Amino acid sequence: MKSQTVIMDELKDLKDRIRDLLHQRKAILLAHNYQRPEVQDIADLCGDSLELSIKASQTDAEVIVFCGVHFMAETASILCPDKKILLPVLDAGCPMADMITAEELRRKREEIPGLIVISYVNTTAEVKAETDICCTSANVIQVVHSVDPSLPIFMTPDKNLAQYAKKHTGRDIMYWEGFCPIHNNLTVTQVRKVRSAHPDALFLAHPECPPGVLELADEVKSTSGMIALPGGSENREFIIGTETGILHPLSKAYPDKLFIPADPGMICGDMKKIGLREILAALKNLQPEVRVPGEIRERAKGAVDRMLAIRDV
Ligand code: 13P
Ligand code: SF4
Repeated sequence: MKSQTVIMDELKDLKDRIRDLLHQRKAILLAHNYQRPEVQDIADLCGDSLELSIKASQTDAEVIVFCGVHFMAETASILCPDKKILLPVLDAGCPMADMITAEELRRKREEIPGLIVISYVNTTAEVKAETDICCTSANVIQVVHSVDPSLPIFMTPDKNLAQYAKKHTGRDIMYWEGFCPIHNNLTVTQVRKVRSAHPDALFLAHPECPPGVLELADEVKSTSGMIALPGGSENREFIIGTETGILHPLSKAYPDKLFIPADPGMICGDMKKIGLREILAALKNLQPEVRVPGEIRERAKGAVDRMLAIRDV
């Protein structure tokens, strides 16, 4: 068995080789807040879907190594067609994004003409191409408010995010019945149990959680919103209602505060597929690459650009 020192030396060597190759390839490494700790620690930027999209649209790097899931790498390709977008493990997907196809969305539009379609960024590029405007968990309310109140809204694919938006905007929103298998599994019973064990803790929930869980939340936030919140709070304990990868940046940012997972079983297997070895291999081979083809990209870009244009509204 390898000693702890040998393991640490190997880890350092891997990290050094990655940083060297990032420099040589004029590449940046973006990581979602759910990624493994060692991946987040080596990233140029960690963030939620909105922050990562904005960074991808602004960087002058030639290569983006995207440590997240497939739709996130596609969004980077939509925004930066001239850059090489690497997703170190190509089958890191998002089960929620796969719950609606472009064909199903086209049929919905035929069924109800005149719909304004808002798609969560957790969708494929093909679905974005059939979409009027995208949103993320961080800007969903502003995006809904940006739509003319006389027009009917249809949201895809997350029924929970749609119901949250409906409640907080007062708009009559129709929606697709998709969901995130990880967040949708968090129950009211489980939250009540953790709350009674930590009565002083604030409960922060992600809007992908079911409506009953969101009703119990003190704050509903995107992943980066959750990371920012304890900085401005007197509270010392927080129950975290999202994927457990976020506990790493939270504990790092606030070592004197306590973060309790609402359910330690909230683990997104897809978000854990990428490790340092996969990143190194991707940088060496400049593969696997995610590239959204021209015509789909053009149409999808319209929906993403419209979202980015209202981010300060
Ligand atoms: P955020 O945009 O809040 O990081 O969420 C992305 C996601 O996939 C949540 O499950
Ligand atoms: Fe998709 Fe849920 Fe995983 Fe986020 S946590 S990537 S929504 S399956």
